[in-house]
Amino acid sequence: MGSQHLLSSMLLLLFLSSFIQMAALGRTPSSSKLLYIVYMGGRQHEDPDLVTASHHDTMSSVLGSKEEAVSSIVYSYKHGFSGFAAMLTESQADQIAELPEVISVNPSRSVPLHTTRSWDYLGLGYKQPQSTGLLRRGNFGDGIIIGVVDSGIWPESRSFDDHGYGPVPSRWKGTCEVGQNFTVKHCNRKIIGARWYAGGVDDSDISVDYRSPRDFQGHGTHTASTAAGSFVGNASFHGLGAGVARGGAPRARLAIYKACWGNNIRCPDAALLKAIDDAVHDGVDILSLSLGAIQSPIFASIHAVEKGITVIFSGGNDGPVPQTISNDLPWVITVAASTMDRSFPTILTLGDNRTVVGQSILYESTGGFKELADGGSCSRDDLNSSDVVGKIVLCYQLAIASSSPPRRHFPLAASNVQEAGGKGIIFAQYSANILSFIDDICNGTVCVFVDYEIGKQIKDYVTNTRSPLVKVSLTQDKVGSGVMSPRVTAFSSRGPSILFPDLVKPDITAPGFLILAAVKDSYKFDSGTSMACPHVSGVAALLKAAHPQWSPAAIKSALVTTAHTANAYGFPIEAEGVPRKLADPFDFGGGHIDPNKASDPGLIYDVEPEDYFKFFNCTYGPSTTCDLVDSRLYRLNLPSISIPDLKKTPLTVWRTVTNVGDKDSIYRAMVESPPGVNMVVEPSLLQFNASTTTHTFAVTFTPLQMVQGDFNFGSLTWFDDGKHAVRIPIAVRVIIHDSFSDTS
Ligand SMILES: *[C@@H]1O[C@H](CO)[C@@H](O)[C@H](O)[C@H]1NC(C)=O
Ligand SMILES: *[C@@H]1O[C@H](CO)[C@@H](O)[C@H](O)[C@H]1NC(C)=O
Ligand SMILES: *[C@@H]1O[C@H](CO)[C@@H](O)[C@H](O)[C@H]1NC(C)=O
Ligand SMILES: *[C@@H]1O[C@H](CO)[C@@H](O)[C@H](O)[C@H]1NC(C)=O
Ligand SMILES: *[C@@H]1O[C@H](CO)[C@@H](O)[C@H](O)[C@H]1NC(C)=O
Ligand SMILES: *[C@@H]1O[C@H](CO)[C@@H](O)[C@H](O)[C@H]1NC(C)=O
Ligand SMILES: *[C@@H]1O[C@H](CO)[C@@H](O)[C@H](O)[C@H]1NC(C)=O
Repeated sequence: MGSQHLLSSMLLLLFLSSFIQMAALGRTPSSSKLLYIVYMGGRQHEDPDLVTASHHDTMSSVLGSKEEAVSSIVYSYKHGFSGFAAMLTESQADQIAELPEVISVNPSRSVPLHTTRSWDYLGLGYKQPQSTGLLRRGNFGDGIIIGVVDSGIWPESRSFDDHGYGPVPSRWKGTCEVGQNFTVKHCNRKIIGARWYAGGVDDSDISVDYRSPRDFQGHGTHTASTAAGSFVGNASFHGLGAGVARGGAPRARLAIYKACWGNNIRCPDAALLKAIDDAVHDGVDILSLSLGAIQSPIFASIHAVEKGITVIFSGGNDGPVPQTISNDLPWVITVAASTMDRSFPTILTLGDNRTVVGQSILYESTGGFKELADGGSCSRDDLNSSDVVGKIVLCYQLAIASSSPPRRHFPLAASNVQEAGGKGIIFAQYSANILSFIDDICNGTVCVFVDYEIGKQIKDYVTNTRSPLVKVSLTQDKVGSGVMSPRVTAFSSRGPSILFPDLVKPDITAPGFLILAAVKDSYKFDSGTSMACPHVSGVAALLKAAHPQWSPAAIKSALVTTAHTANAYGFPIEAEGVPRKLADPFDFGGGHIDPNKASDPGLIYDVEPEDYFKFFNCTYGPSTTCDLVDSRLYRLNLPSISIPDLKKTPLTVWRTVTNVGDKDSIYRAMVESPPGVNMVVEPSLLQFNASTTTHTFAVTFTPLQMVQGDFNFGSLTWFDDGKHAVRIPIAVRVIIHDSFSDTS
């Protein structure tokens, strides 16, 4: 109570002082205009022009003049939903929010793309679906249109060659917007549409970029070619990982929406909304968004899903800290990132001819032996006290590991070594897969990562040798057996969701570490959930092609219920972090994507858009249409269950499954209860036949111990004599005292 008082007084003080500051600068807070997004719900008119006219009316009613209304509106949203983005003062925004036809008004923010910039380099292709299963069933994605909202496209890339493609699908209503270094000729039968959105974007971001759909930064080309790149033989990065590059759905068509700009590739909400709105109009089947946590586009995505579009988002790169997952909405697919069966062993030969192995991406010879120095922790102080000029420097400091993860410590150590004149760095780390930093950070310096155990061996060698030497050999490229994979990467954002702990998020993990894909005219490696997202988009396109009648929820269900939780050797999939641990649903949702199994899931947990809106209306308004009983998200028919506050009394949630396998089949439930919870499924046997294609069952949870809990995990799997295993992840936290809860 007391501290709350203090807090509000402090906030008041803060507010007052900023007000006074602004007044001193000759401005009042309400006179400057900002870009706001006004949401008005579903469309009231079929005719988009009438929708726009209604936006002019709404604005005129507050601004007075029609002209001013029209010129203030930056974007009018009229296909997926009704709303607009406009330059408004704070008080105008407040007035508009009061209007009966308006549901919400929010400032437009800029979100980053979901990859740390240019985590380029080595690596290679990504795991591709077998040419037998889904790829063929889905006819390589032919006929499906994937919309990619990102930083644009490099149309000359071989990945977008349209050789052998049939005509553009007649249902396509999009367009090819031209601009700087981009003409209508740059659209083809592969890139069937391209639009760009410069409204609401900072001039500084636009001035360095192409004023057209052309991709300046490279991110959009990378993600688009990952989702749907054509077959490109002999793609490699400096010869490493040579092979065929292709997208998940190599015959799908691409619709490009450039809403992200500049060196820092930022994407304003207002532009993202317009891109999504246009994509709904144009007729995309899949929307792939490798973007940061969006605020207002929450309603854009639900309206897109309502129109039958499967919306796939990256989950963010803020792991391994819990509760960092973003884009965690019930109606979208949120994707985590994991490693593949590829590693980059790099042999270090010490002066005494001993060899140890590290990881790097060295593709140019560094010559023979070099002098080796002990840089301690590679802090400035440590480096100052030893001579490292022209040498390769060992950075080994165990004590730092617990307080500073390698992703943070390494860039600092590398720049200190560079500053001190070192020629290379051998960095001891716990395994955190930071190889993808090399392009950005090492910049010509030799960088090799080694485990602490090996770091200690090198340290002992340096300490006990008068003039220590080391030779770094070219990196090898190891694929296939012998590499423990997949693992959820350390950077992949983790659940539970802060906003919606009633959800299991992320939904699924897919390859997102050192992915080789197109950037400008060549192929580069990049890492991030940004790279994982288009893998799922490609697979979703194949599923849509194989099962045109499936809803976005059905596609998500197929992906989640067939994902695998063990690797090819039968070991449970792990999640990188400190310490490395077994992955749980808040690391990877249902598990690692398994495209071929997803094409034949057996049962589907489907959701009507109407059910999403029940929840949406309660959360985002209009509150008058909220049915509180249904607003708990675990009541949605999702392919997962998360109960963050199980109390003493048993709690029952219901699920309905639809048979999409053999007409006559019998499924039996196998329950893996979360520890400390009794979980009962009723009925536990489901019999399907020609007339009965759906069944509803109850899952009842009862705490076994009255202990203020952590989340614990279990699963429910429906088995039909060996053909299908339909598994959903379950997370339950027992809460005795409402006032306190622990995180995962
Ligand atoms: C863009 O167009 C200008 C003028 O036509 C040309 O000089 C430039 O090389 C082009 N840049 C690219 C990357 O195509
Ligand atoms: C593949 O690329 C390499 C290097 O870029 C080149 O030497 C080789 O001739 C190419 N092979 C084919 C079949 O194009
Ligand atoms: C390391 O091996 C090389 C070549 O085999 C040899 O010439 C050299 O004497 C060896 N050095 C030591 C310290 O054993
Ligand atoms: C390095 O050490 C010298 C002498 O001890 C000191 O003058 C200098 O400021 C130090 N440099 C840095 C970067 O710490
Ligand atoms: C990389 O090194 C070059 C020259 O060595 C320098 O011009 C450039 O700014 C460096 N880039 C970064 C990101 O440090
Ligand atoms: C949600 O609100 C909209 C108005 O924006 C209304 O048309 C719709 O029927 C509501 N849906 C549900 C399920 O309450
Ligand atoms: C189909 O299954 C339902 C329930 O699972 C059962 O009641 C019904 O008798 C079955 N119909 C046939 C024709 O077997």
